[in-house]
Amino acid sequence: MCGIVGIVGHQPVAQRLIDGLKRLEYRGYDSAGIATLCQGDIAIRRAKGKLQALQNLYDQDPIEGVIGIGHTRWATHGVPSEANAHPHISDRVAVVHNGIIENYAGLKEMLLNKGHQFASQTDTEAVVHLMTDYLSQGNSPIEALRRTLADIEGAFALVILVKGVEDTLLVARRGSPLVIGEGDGESYVGSDALVLAPWTQRLRYLEEGDYAIVSAQSIQIFNAQDQHVDRPVKTINISADAATKGGYDHFMLKEIFEQPTTVKDTVESLIDSSAETLNLPVDIDWNNISKLTMIACGTSYFSTAVAKYWFEMIARIPVEIDIASEFRYRESPLPKGGAALFISQSGETIDTLEAMKQAKADHQTTIAIVNVAESSMDRLADFSVHTKAGPEIGVASTKAFTAQLAVLACLCLDAAQKRGTLTSSQVQDHIQHLLNLPNEIYGILQKEADYQQVAHRMQPARDALYLGRGTNFPIAMEGALKLKEISYIHAEGYAAGEMKHGPIALIDDLMPVIVLAPHDKWMVKTLSNLQEVIARGGIAICFTDRLGRQHIEQDKIPAQIVEMPLSHPLTAPILYALPMQLLSYYTALLKGTDVDQPRNLAKSVTVE
Ligand code: F6R
Repeated sequence: MCGIVGIVGHQPVAQRLIDGLKRLEYRGYDSAGIATLCQGDIAIRRAKGKLQALQNLYDQDPIEGVIGIGHTRWATHGVPSEANAHPHISDRVAVVHNGIIENYAGLKEMLLNKGHQFASQTDTEAVVHLMTDYLSQGNSPIEALRRTLADIEGAFALVILVKGVEDTLLVARRGSPLVIGEGDGESYVGSDALVLAPWTQRLRYLEEGDYAIVSAQSIQIFNAQDQHVDRPVKTINISADAATKGGYDHFMLKEIFEQPTTVKDTVESLIDSSAETLNLPVDIDWNNISKLTMIACGTSYFSTAVAKYWFEMIARIPVEIDIASEFRYRESPLPKGGAALFISQSGETIDTLEAMKQAKADHQTTIAIVNVAESSMDRLADFSVHTKAGPEIGVASTKAFTAQLAVLACLCLDAAQKRGTLTSSQVQDHIQHLLNLPNEIYGILQKEADYQQVAHRMQPARDALYLGRGTNFPIAMEGALKLKEISYIHAEGYAAGEMKHGPIALIDDLMPVIVLAPHDKWMVKTLSNLQEVIARGGIAICFTDRLGRQHIEQDKIPAQIVEMPLSHPLTAPILYALPMQLLSYYTALLKGTDVDQPRNLAKSVTVE
């Protein structure tokens, strides 16, 4: 959510800043801009809309300079426009910002009274004028930064250029991520490791409250108490290729088709495949956990919803799940000896991160499942397990979700093994199914024609309903979310048995109803719900397996069937998530929407 980048060195930076923003565009695409220091002045280019607009502007009217900053915006305060695009500048400084300055209104009033003139509707501009004010009082740049940081409230990652200081970037973080990269004779700053990947893999992650003076040769970091601190250099190996589409039309499609590999990598990081035994990087004392609270947002929340069934049914641990933004203010009493598990692709989602801090304060054992190593949640949790999905660029989450489910399945088996709720041969049977997942995923992804055909039925709809029971109820919700996000068709995911308590009123002959019904203990009930849809004239499309098909055909239920392979109860929700992803993708294609950058959305939500 807003991406920022900075370079200080001895070579021209402007085009490289734009190249960096290309790797950050998933974080926001309302507008973009760059600023450099050039011949004693601030040079700036900003454009509304996608990054290409900035590139076009720059191509027509390039700027020079060996130090500069860049930003890609997801609007919070102020509409997407050139005036609200970052960097924001005064005659002394240029600033890029990710986050929200919560007390900007009071600061703006104070600064207006002092004669500062504001050019945008953004909260960020308060930082620009505060810095300028402190500089004009005779403070050094670092002193001006310290004073500014003392005045501002909220969440931020900031990178600041100061006119006349041609060899230094000032940076600060509170609440929003920021990483500093060490190059050869050059230094870099960015929102994540991916933006810096082609330039350096030697990274220093700023801690909460840190600020720093970054020059080509040196990096001086201070903590919130103004003490000089050393943050260790971490080597992060991310291939810059991850930020390319690799021959696919969209990142989302590439990421969907990466799932045989990403699930394999994830499973094999947790299971010894030759011994067929669990081999987890964490040793959680599941016997002494009285209750498990799982918290996340969006698609990651639906992972918790699947895992609730698993942990309760298989490991017999009571589980509560919550949406992070609700959990934070619900004041839920957490039990002594409880554990709280947080799931996040980015590891930076502010609501989830704050919920984790709250759970820690409530003496819960905290466990994180994240896709981004060294992210804030990864570093804060007592135990952290990584999904091995690789960078996810498509705004709609796909491969991160199935990798999260793979990790949760392994953690659940670990709990069941330690608590003795499964015998060792039952654990091994489950493990074999997890090891076989990549093959099954591959097979399901090959049936594109089936999903394209269903997409044609979805395309004209204004609304759609997704139904499932048990572990496929969360998959119904995830399917509906995917459709909403990228095709803008309104969709709801419902527990199939709950349909008759309200949503059934919506069904008419224009309404597609996607029913997920693998052959499991819920199937017969779900197929009764399918009958109820048909009885009301709905367009019934059922994803089921060979045994489900037999049942449907025996009962002469006139539903369209998309046949899935027979699946094990543990892996069924992972497998049924795949056609939901492709169905939304193909529907969006037919509607001509922007699949990778759907309107209003951005990835890595670092505002509340
Ligand atoms: C949906 C989607 C979002 C994220 C949510 C949480 O396709 O991508 O709903 O799942 O914003 O993000 P993370 O997992 O990074 O905490």
